[in-house]
Amino acid sequence: MLRTIIIASATLMTTTEIMAQAQSTPKVLVYTATAGYRHDSIPTAIQVLGDNAQQYGVEFTFSEDKSLFTNESLSTFDGVMFVSNSDEVLDESGQAALQTFFQSGGVYTGVHSASACLFNDENYQQAVGALFDYHPPIQDATFTRINNTHPATANVPDRWSFQEEVYYFRSNPRDNGAVVLLSVDETSYVNNGTSSGNYPSMGDPHPIAWYIDSPLSSQPLSQGISKPGRSFYTSLGHLNSTWQDETFINHVMSGLKWALDGASTKAYGIGLVGNGNNNETSSSNQTSASASTSGSGSNTSGASATVSASASTSSGTGTGGTSGAQTNTHLPGNAAFIGAGILGLVGVSLLI
Ligand SMILES: *[C@@H]1O[C@H](CO)[C@@H](O)[C@H](O)[C@H]1NC(C)=O
Ligand SMILES: *[C@@H]1O[C@H](CO)[C@@H](O)[C@H](O)[C@H]1NC(C)=O
Ligand SMILES: *[C@@H]1O[C@H](CO)[C@@H](O)[C@H](O)[C@H]1NC(C)=O
Ligand SMILES: *[C@@H]1O[C@H](CO)[C@@H](O)[C@H](O)[C@H]1NC(C)=O
Ligand SMILES: *[C@@H]1O[C@H](CO)[C@@H](O)[C@H](O)[C@H]1NC(C)=O
Ligand SMILES: *[C@@H]1O[C@H](CO)[C@@H](O)[C@H](O)[C@H]1NC(C)=O
Ligand SMILES: *[C@@H]1O[C@H](CO)[C@@H](O)[C@H](O)[C@H]1NC(C)=O
Repeated sequence: MLRTIIIASATLMTTTEIMAQAQSTPKVLVYTATAGYRHDSIPTAIQVLGDNAQQYGVEFTFSEDKSLFTNESLSTFDGVMFVSNSDEVLDESGQAALQTFFQSGGVYTGVHSASACLFNDENYQQAVGALFDYHPPIQDATFTRINNTHPATANVPDRWSFQEEVYYFRSNPRDNGAVVLLSVDETSYVNNGTSSGNYPSMGDPHPIAWYIDSPLSSQPLSQGISKPGRSFYTSLGHLNSTWQDETFINHVMSGLKWALDGASTKAYGIGLVGNGNNNETSSSNQTSASASTSGSGSNTSGASATVSASASTSSGTGTGGTSGAQTNTHLPGNAAFIGAGILGLVGVSLLI
C-alpha cells in the first residue's frame, strides 16, 4: 500500500515564499516498481537517494504506485528516475503519460535494471537508450572511464573495480543518440552468460553508463516548449554495498543533476512540467539564478526513507524554508499532499 509520510517544516511560509522557493528545487519521482525480479537493494537505494537529496539540490518522491503516471501528476515533476525495475511496471495509459512527460521537457534517469522493464515500449526504450539483455554472474569487474569531464564520471577513477553485474544490451545505445561515459574491461571478468535473443551489437567499447541529449522519446516536442529533457542511465547498482559507496553515489546523483540541469522544466523557469508555476511564455528568464538557491530548501530527502528523519528545513538564507509545497495541489487523489502544500509541509510517499 501507499503510505504518505508528512514531515513538518521548521517554519510556516507565506504563499509568496512558497512560490519563490518552489521554483528552485527540481522534483523527481523515483519509481522502484517491479513486476518480476526484485532487488533487495531497493530499500538501500531509497535511503541513500533520500539522504543525498539536499546536498545535490533535488527533491525526491519515492513511489511504486503506477497510478502516479498520468499527465496531471507527472506534470508536477521535473524528472522521473527509474531504479532497479523489472518487466511491465506501467500499463498502456501510464506509458502514454510518460511519453507526454518526455515530450513536455521532462527528464529521465535510469539506474541498473531500469533497462530491464517496459520491453515493448519504444518510447521508454528511446529514453533509457538500450534494453537489458543478460549479465554473467555477479563478480569483480573493472569499469573504465571514457569521459572524465562529464559530471557523472568526473569523480570516478579511470579504472573502477568492484563486485557488479556486467550488463549486456539488446542494442547499441549510440543508435539512440547516447554518448557513452563508462565502459568495462572485458578481460577483468568471465562472461559465461548467454544472450536471450538474436540482437544487434551493443557496440564497442562495451556501454555501461551513458547520457542522451536529447532522446528521441521527447520528439515531437509538445506545443509551447522548445527544449527536450535530457536522459542519463547507468547499469551499475546491484548491491547494497555499491549504493553505500561514495563514488557510486556521486556518479548517480551527478548524472541525475546533469540531466535536470539541462533546464527544460519549470524548476528552471521554463517548460511545461516541473516544480513551479513558470512556463516558457510567461517567465523563461528566471532560469539558473533561482536554481542556484537549491539546497537551501527542504530536507525531504532522507526523511522519505525513514520516519525518524529530522526535518530541518530552515534555510537561514531568507529565501524561505521549504520547497515542494507548491505543486502538491496538482497531485490527484491524495488529500494529505494537498494539506501538506497549504501548510508548507513536505510530503513524501513511499511504498513499502
Ligand atoms: C540490503 O539491504 C536491505 C535493507 O536495506 C536488506 O533488507 C537486504 O537484506 C540487504 N541485502 C543483502 C544481500 O545484505
Ligand atoms: C495527455 O496529454 C497528451 C498531450 O497533451 C494528450 O494528447 C492526451 O490525450 C492526454 N492524455 C489524457 C489521458 O488526458
Ligand atoms: C564528455 O561529456 C561532455 C559533456 O559533459 C561532452 O561535451 C563531451 O563531448 C564528452 N566527451 C566524450 C569523449 O564523449
Ligand atoms: C558461470 O560461471 C559461474 C562461476 O563459475 C557458475 O557458477 C555458473 O554456473 C556459470 N554459468 C553458466 C551458464 O555456465
Ligand atoms: C503560461 O503562462 C501564460 C502567461 O501567463 C498563460 O497564459 C498560459 O496559460 C500558461 N501556460 C501553461 C501551460 O500554464
Ligand atoms: C531571456 O532574456 C534575454 C535577454 O533579455 C533574451 O535575449 C532571451 O530571448 C530571453 N529568453 C527567452 C526564452 O525569452
Ligand atoms: C537530512 O536528512 C538526512 C536523513 O535523515 C540526514 O542525514 C541529514 O543530516 C539531514 N540534513 C539536514 C541538513 O538536516
